[in-house]
Amino acid sequence: MTIEQDHKMPIQVENIQLNRQHPIPLSRQLYVQLHQQVLHGQITFKERLPPTRSLATQLRLSRGVVVESYDMLKGDGLVAGFGKGGTRVCYRGRQRRTRSRSIVSSLPLARRGDEIAVARHYPDIAHEPLALTPGVPDFGLFPLSRWQSFSKQAMSNAPTWYVRDGGLPLLKNALRDYLAQYRGIVVNDSHCLLITSGSQASLSLLARMLAEPGEPALLERPCWPGAEAAIRQAELNVTYTGVAADEGGSDNKWSGAIQRHRPRFVIVTPGMQFPTGRPMSMQEREALLKSTARHRCWLIEDDYAAEYSYAQHPAPSIMAHSETGHVIHVGTMSKLLFPGLRIGWMVVPKHIATGVNNALNTCGILPPNMLQQQLGLFMQYGHLSAHLAHSRAIYNERRDRCSRYIAEYARELLVPTDSVSGMNLYFRINHKAVDVSNLQDRLVRAGLGCGLYIQRVAGKDENFLLLGHTCLSRDVVAAHLGRLVATLSER
Ligand SMILES: Cc1ncc(COP(=O)(O)O)c(C=O)c1O
Repeated sequence: MTIEQDHKMPIQVENIQLNRQHPIPLSRQLYVQLHQQVLHGQITFKERLPPTRSLATQLRLSRGVVVESYDMLKGDGLVAGFGKGGTRVCYRGRQRRTRSRSIVSSLPLARRGDEIAVARHYPDIAHEPLALTPGVPDFGLFPLSRWQSFSKQAMSNAPTWYVRDGGLPLLKNALRDYLAQYRGIVVNDSHCLLITSGSQASLSLLARMLAEPGEPALLERPCWPGAEAAIRQAELNVTYTGVAADEGGSDNKWSGAIQRHRPRFVIVTPGMQFPTGRPMSMQEREALLKSTARHRCWLIEDDYAAEYSYAQHPAPSIMAHSETGHVIHVGTMSKLLFPGLRIGWMVVPKHIATGVNNALNTCGILPPNMLQQQLGLFMQYGHLSAHLAHSRAIYNERRDRCSRYIAEYARELLVPTDSVSGMNLYFRINHKAVDVSNLQDRLVRAGLGCGLYIQRVAGKDENFLLLGHTCLSRDVVAAHLGRLVATLSER
């Protein structure tokens, strides 16, 4: 409906929605909507607004409310009073908008922005992880009521101002104890321990800070796609070495690759290689430490699921054996608790601690104070340790059940490997029995999130399947693994 009285009335009254119950005054509600109509060109340059009295009648408002709205528009410079000529639009909205819209729609990302945007491929999958997705902690085991019992205290004690020194003291102290007890790392100076919003954030920041664009960084192949993405987004060259077994001995492997590629840094997962699930041997650790130190190459350890190893005790951190000042330790709560928490940490050598801390603040990758405080309390009262012991035992049971099922029903399809991961099973796919073309699509269609990897074995590329067993409780194991066997058997 458009009002026609003593002049053409351009306002689209039918589009104006006023909520008389809302605490925002009616004059402001009307002003905001008229403002939009002017900006979007629904009321154009020089057009006259309806007289305040007629608009007030139409909208069942007092005239004073409309006058107030018009005054606000005048204050913005969108309309002006012209005496007998009434109140008219003095903003050339439509013309300008049309022009600016075409410019804006063609404004591209910078080349660097494009590289960051495609650095990692995120498959278009459901928000909830699919069954058998690797590395998913079973949230059903998380002691939620204990966690919640700290939320009020965390809210009242967490600083409301910025905390600039790399994380809240309570969490840093709790993490220092955790790192000493579980990972063999002694953090003498708390400035060297920095809280971040997870390993991806830590690695991406480090990649930008430790190398110039175009310089090489070294990974094992296969590896975690997040580590490759961290290197790519920093515009570095990704270089690779194979996993140990394929490279003619661990000594040769590292010294050969580091001499060949001259990387600025190496990212490794020594606790349990991702995805193969093999812990790095002492001999290989020594070789890696020696070669990286000799070639002035940083060694970044991604200690992503330290506690979750199967059967044996988890191997200590590689940082625990090094005093050379070239090792950086990166950890996360994503596996130990749950990924949505977005809390991780780094332990960096003292000479770069202030610089990395400043960068953390500038890039804004610190988790919220309240969550840091809550986690600090949770750890201080021993709940992390209790949760790790409890969940580790259950994950190991589930792994046994899953291995038995595969041995019974998929012996021809999947060949077990020597992975000791307590979260995932890693199998070689028997290419004679399984059609690997489109396998990833077929798995997703069957609602399964297992990962597929290519690994070089004895000079040949082989296909491997990474299967998360952590959520395979007794009641779902047959259904999920049955679907897996059926999908692998499709011809
Ligand atoms: C090897 C590895 N590192 C780190 C992470 C976790 O990273 P974030 O802390 O960013 O969740 C994962 C998760 O899948 C992983 O597999």
